Amino acid sequence: MNLRRSTAVALLSLTPAMSAVAVEPVIAGSVPPDPERLARGEYLTRVSGCHDCHTPGYSQSAGQVPHDAWLTGDTTAWEGPWGTTFASNLRLTLLRFNDEQWLDYARSLRTAPPMPWFNLAAMSDHDLLSILTFVQWLGPKGEPAPPALAPGDTWIGPTIQFTHRSPD
Ligand code: HEC
Repeated sequence: MNLRRSTAVALLSLTPAMSAVAVEPVIAGSVPPDPERLARGEYLTRVSGCHDCHTPGYSQSAGQVPHDAWLTGDTTAWEGPWGTTFASNLRLTLLRFNDEQWLDYARSLRTAPPMPWFNLAAMSDHDLLSILTFVQWLGPKGEPAPPALAPGDTWIGPTIQFTHRSPD
Protein backbone atom coordinates (compact mmCIF):
# COMPACT_ATOMS: atom_id res chain seq x y z
CA MET A 1 0.00 0.00 0.00
CA ASN A 2 1.46 3.33 -0.96
CA LEU A 3 1.96 6.21 1.41
CA ARG A 4 -0.78 8.35 -0.01
CA ARG A 5 -3.32 5.60 0.54
CA SER A 6 -2.02 4.82 4.05
CA THR A 7 -2.19 8.43 5.05
CA ALA A 8 -5.68 8.83 3.70
CA VAL A 9 -6.94 5.73 5.51
CA ALA A 10 -5.45 6.96 8.77
CA LEU A 11 -7.12 10.30 8.31
CA LEU A 12 -10.44 8.67 7.54
CA SER A 13 -10.70 7.84 11.22
CA LEU A 14 -10.69 11.51 12.09
CA THR A 15 -13.64 13.83 11.91
CA PRO A 16 -15.79 13.78 8.77
CA ALA A 17 -14.83 17.36 8.04
CA MET A 18 -11.13 16.52 8.14
CA SER A 19 -11.49 13.33 6.13
CA ALA A 20 -13.34 15.21 3.41
CA VAL A 21 -10.27 17.37 3.01
CA ALA A 22 -7.68 14.63 3.49
CA VAL A 23 -8.94 11.81 1.25
CA GLU A 24 -7.11 11.53 -2.03
CA PRO A 25 -8.48 9.59 -4.99
CA VAL A 26 -6.33 6.56 -5.73
CA ILE A 27 -8.42 4.22 -7.92
CA ALA A 28 -6.36 4.21 -11.08
CA GLY A 29 -8.23 5.27 -14.16
CA SER A 30 -11.55 5.95 -12.48
CA VAL A 31 -13.31 9.04 -11.23
CA PRO A 32 -12.12 10.19 -7.79
CA PRO A 33 -14.21 8.54 -5.08
CA ASP A 34 -16.68 10.73 -3.24
CA PRO A 35 -15.04 11.44 0.17
CA GLU A 36 -18.37 11.16 1.96
CA ARG A 37 -18.99 7.69 0.49
CA LEU A 38 -15.46 6.67 1.38
CA ALA A 39 -15.79 7.69 5.02
CA ARG A 40 -19.22 6.07 5.26
CA GLY A 41 -17.85 2.85 3.75
CA GLU A 42 -15.00 2.77 6.23
CA TYR A 43 -17.47 3.27 9.08
CA LEU A 44 -19.98 0.69 7.82
CA THR A 45 -17.44 -2.07 7.27
CA ARG A 46 -16.43 -1.60 10.92
CA VAL A 47 -19.81 -1.38 12.59
CA SER A 48 -21.75 -3.80 10.42
CA GLY A 49 -19.25 -6.57 11.10
CA CYS A 50 -17.62 -7.17 7.68
CA HIS A 51 -14.15 -7.11 9.24
CA ASP A 52 -15.13 -9.63 11.91
CA CYS A 53 -15.09 -12.37 9.31
CA HIS A 54 -13.47 -10.94 6.17
CA THR A 55 -10.33 -9.48 7.84
CA PRO A 56 -7.88 -12.07 9.17
CA GLY A 57 -7.27 -11.84 12.92
CA TYR A 58 -9.71 -8.98 13.40
CA SER A 59 -11.85 -10.47 16.18
CA GLN A 60 -8.86 -12.05 17.90
CA SER A 61 -7.02 -8.70 18.07
CA ALA A 62 -10.04 -6.56 18.99
CA GLY A 63 -9.83 -4.86 15.62
CA GLN A 64 -6.12 -4.07 15.73
CA VAL A 65 -5.29 -5.20 12.20
CA PRO A 66 -3.22 -2.95 9.91
CA HIS A 67 -5.41 -1.52 7.19
CA ASP A 68 -3.41 -3.10 4.40
CA ALA A 69 -4.89 -6.46 5.51
CA TRP A 70 -8.46 -5.19 5.81
CA LEU A 71 -11.06 -7.32 4.06
CA THR A 72 -8.50 -9.61 2.40
CA GLY A 73 -10.47 -12.74 3.37
CA ASP A 74 -9.68 -15.43 5.88
CA THR A 75 -8.62 -19.06 5.96
CA THR A 76 -10.53 -19.69 9.18
CA ALA A 77 -13.07 -22.35 8.24
CA TRP A 78 -16.74 -22.14 9.18
CA GLU A 79 -17.97 -25.72 9.38
CA GLY A 80 -21.55 -26.83 9.78
CA PRO A 81 -24.32 -28.83 8.13
CA TRP A 82 -23.82 -26.70 5.00
CA GLY A 83 -20.21 -27.88 4.62
CA THR A 84 -17.29 -25.52 5.12
CA THR A 85 -17.15 -21.90 4.01
CA PHE A 86 -14.48 -19.21 4.10
CA ALA A 87 -14.97 -15.45 4.19
CA SER A 88 -13.99 -14.23 0.73
CA ASN A 89 -11.30 -11.71 -0.16
CA LEU A 90 -13.50 -8.66 -0.81
CA ARG A 91 -10.45 -6.68 -1.99
CA LEU A 92 -10.44 -9.02 -5.01
CA THR A 93 -14.07 -10.03 -5.46
CA LEU A 94 -15.55 -6.52 -5.37
CA LEU A 95 -13.23 -5.18 -8.05
CA ARG A 96 -15.38 -6.54 -10.85
CA PHE A 97 -18.48 -4.48 -10.10
CA ASN A 98 -19.70 -1.11 -11.21
CA ASP A 99 -22.37 0.54 -9.03
CA GLU A 100 -25.41 -1.03 -10.72
CA GLN A 101 -23.88 -4.49 -10.87
CA TRP A 102 -22.98 -4.34 -7.19
CA LEU A 103 -26.47 -3.29 -6.14
CA ASP A 104 -27.96 -6.19 -8.14
CA TYR A 105 -25.42 -8.65 -6.78
CA ALA A 106 -25.73 -7.58 -3.15
CA ARG A 107 -29.54 -7.72 -3.30
CA SER A 108 -29.69 -11.16 -4.90
CA LEU A 109 -26.78 -12.75 -3.02
CA ARG A 110 -27.59 -16.04 -1.28
CA THR A 111 -24.68 -17.74 0.45
CA ALA A 112 -24.21 -20.56 2.89
CA PRO A 113 -23.81 -19.52 6.57
CA PRO A 114 -22.47 -17.63 8.38
CA MET A 115 -22.43 -14.76 5.83
CA PRO A 116 -25.37 -12.49 6.79
CA TRP A 117 -26.45 -11.92 3.16
CA PHE A 118 -29.89 -10.83 4.40
CA ASN A 119 -28.26 -7.88 6.22
CA LEU A 120 -26.41 -6.85 3.09
CA ALA A 121 -29.64 -7.05 1.08
CA ALA A 122 -31.38 -4.80 3.63
CA MET A 123 -28.87 -1.95 3.26
CA SER A 124 -29.80 1.23 1.46
CA ASP A 125 -28.33 1.92 -1.98
CA HIS A 126 -26.19 4.62 -0.45
CA ASP A 127 -24.77 2.31 2.18
CA LEU A 128 -24.06 -0.48 -0.30
CA LEU A 129 -22.36 1.93 -2.69
CA SER A 130 -20.32 3.38 0.16
CA ILE A 131 -19.02 -0.09 1.00
CA LEU A 132 -18.20 -0.74 -2.66
CA THR A 133 -16.39 2.58 -2.99
CA PHE A 134 -14.36 2.01 0.15
CA VAL A 135 -13.33 -1.57 -0.67
CA GLN A 136 -12.38 -0.69 -4.25
CA TRP A 137 -10.44 2.30 -2.97
CA LEU A 138 -8.46 0.05 -0.57
CA GLY A 139 -7.33 -1.70 -3.74
CA PRO A 140 -6.52 -5.31 -4.67
CA LYS A 141 -4.53 -7.25 -2.11
CA GLY A 142 -3.92 -10.85 -1.03
CA GLU A 143 -5.07 -14.20 -2.34
CA PRO A 144 -8.55 -15.57 -2.96
CA ALA A 145 -10.03 -17.41 0.04
CA PRO A 146 -10.10 -21.22 -0.22
CA PRO A 147 -13.10 -22.62 -2.08
CA ALA A 148 -16.00 -23.93 0.01
CA LEU A 149 -15.95 -27.62 0.91
CA ALA A 150 -18.84 -30.05 0.69
CA PRO A 151 -20.39 -31.52 3.87
CA GLY A 152 -18.15 -34.31 5.14
CA ASP A 153 -14.92 -32.86 3.72
CA THR A 154 -12.47 -31.76 6.41
CA TRP A 155 -10.37 -28.59 6.49
CA ILE A 156 -7.00 -28.94 8.20
CA GLY A 157 -6.49 -25.58 9.90
CA PRO A 158 -8.32 -23.18 12.20
CA THR A 159 -12.00 -24.11 12.18
CA ILE A 160 -15.13 -22.77 13.83
CA GLN A 161 -17.61 -25.58 14.14
CA PHE A 162 -21.36 -25.33 14.48
CA THR A 163 -22.22 -28.55 16.28
CA HIS A 164 -25.40 -29.86 17.75
CA ARG A 165 -24.87 -31.73 20.97
CA SER A 166 -27.51 -34.14 22.19
CA PRO A 167 -27.70 -35.43 25.78
CA ASP A 168 -26.74 -38.97 24.71
C1 HEC B 1 -20.17 -14.01 10.37
C2 HEC B 1 -19.15 -13.88 9.35
C3 HEC B 1 -19.39 -12.88 8.21
C4 HEC B 1 -19.77 -11.56 8.29
C5 HEC B 1 -20.12 -10.77 9.54
C6 HEC B 1 -19.78 -11.05 6.95
N1 HEC B 1 -19.43 -12.05 6.08
FE1 HEC B 1 -19.44 -11.91 4.03
N2 HEC B 1 -19.05 -13.91 3.90
C7 HEC B 1 -18.74 -14.74 4.96
C8 HEC B 1 -18.50 -16.07 4.46
C9 HEC B 1 -18.10 -17.29 5.29
C10 HEC B 1 -18.69 -16.02 3.06
C11 HEC B 1 -18.60 -17.20 2.07
C12 HEC B 1 -20.00 -17.83 1.99
C13 HEC B 1 -20.05 -19.01 1.03
O1 HEC B 1 -19.01 -19.51 0.58
O2 HEC B 1 -21.20 -19.48 0.72
C14 HEC B 1 -19.04 -14.64 2.76
C15 HEC B 1 -19.34 -14.19 1.49
C16 HEC B 1 -19.54 -12.86 1.16
C17 HEC B 1 -19.80 -12.37 -0.17
C18 HEC B 1 -20.01 -13.24 -1.40
C19 HEC B 1 -18.69 -13.66 -1.98
C20 HEC B 1 -18.01 -12.51 -2.70
O3 HEC B 1 -16.95 -12.06 -2.22
O4 HEC B 1 -18.56 -12.02 -3.71
C21 HEC B 1 -19.86 -11.00 -0.09
C22 HEC B 1 -20.07 -10.02 -1.22
C23 HEC B 1 -19.69 -10.64 1.30
N3 HEC B 1 -19.50 -11.80 2.03
C24 HEC B 1 -19.66 -9.34 1.78
C25 HEC B 1 -19.76 -9.02 3.14
C26 HEC B 1 -19.93 -7.68 3.64
C27 HEC B 1 -19.94 -6.41 2.76
C28 HEC B 1 -20.07 -7.76 4.99
C29 HEC B 1 -20.36 -6.66 5.98
C30 HEC B 1 -21.59 -5.95 5.73
C31 HEC B 1 -19.97 -9.19 5.33
N4 HEC B 1 -19.76 -9.90 4.18
C32 HEC B 1 -20.07 -9.72 6.60
C33 HEC B 1 -18.72 -14.39 6.29
C34 HEC B 1 -19.16 -13.17 6.80
